[in-house]
Amino acid sequence: MSDHVAIAIDGPAASGKSTLARQLAAKLDLIMVNSGEMYRAVTWKVLQDGIDPKDAEAVIAALVEMDIECSVAEGRSVVRLDGRRTGDELRSEAVNGSVSAVAAIPEVRNRLVEMQRGFLEFGNVIMEGRDIGTVVFPDTPFKIYLDADAGVRAGRRVAVGEVDSVEDRDREDSRRKTAPLQVAAGAAILDTSGHTIESGTEAALELLREQGLKL
Ligand code: DC
Repeated sequence: MSDHVAIAIDGPAASGKSTLARQLAAKLDLIMVNSGEMYRAVTWKVLQDGIDPKDAEAVIAALVEMDIECSVAEGRSVVRLDGRRTGDELRSEAVNGSVSAVAAIPEVRNRLVEMQRGFLEFGNVIMEGRDIGTVVFPDTPFKIYLDADAGVRAGRRVAVGEVDSVEDRDREDSRRKTAPLQVAAGAAILDTSGHTIESGTEAALELLREQGLKL
């Protein structure tokens, strides 16, 4: 086991996870891992191959052949598919609309969770997602569950050009059988609706200090 520290940030879409993780990673010199990108990368490849994302058997067959590689560059996670670095294509409407179906497949999750745990080899990690505190790093004492009003979250998505129905995705992510979005045991809950980036980051840091974070 590695001695490195894992900080888990979970919450629904557009609750502010990436922004918070980026801020804390810079402040505390952590590797920032966006686990959603990994589910998005698999989904993008599935769509690219013309596979129906709802056809779990076909997705699993494609997954076996998939060349997915995760590494760290400039302090954050990077996902490569067939050796090529992924980018903006992961945020397309098509991926937004299909990622929940792909992420509900246990075989997909098993493969990606293993890779997510592997990031601890590289250093102290802050990882954001849906099941980081419940499944990926259940034993870490450092867990935050972020939330924000549905209206605030929808507004944030529109502001960055993502107009998909965040609520549909959250519903699917929360109701699936395997690793649904839920508040992990021991997680501190932080509502970012009324916070600025700075005040939200300070509030999160205080909660992590209360959980015993010494970094
Ligand atoms: O964080 P995001 O919105 O980019 O994540 C995209 C999707 O990936 C999300 O709707 C559900 C899935 N996901 C997941 O199931 N588990 C994670 N740890 C991270 C994301």
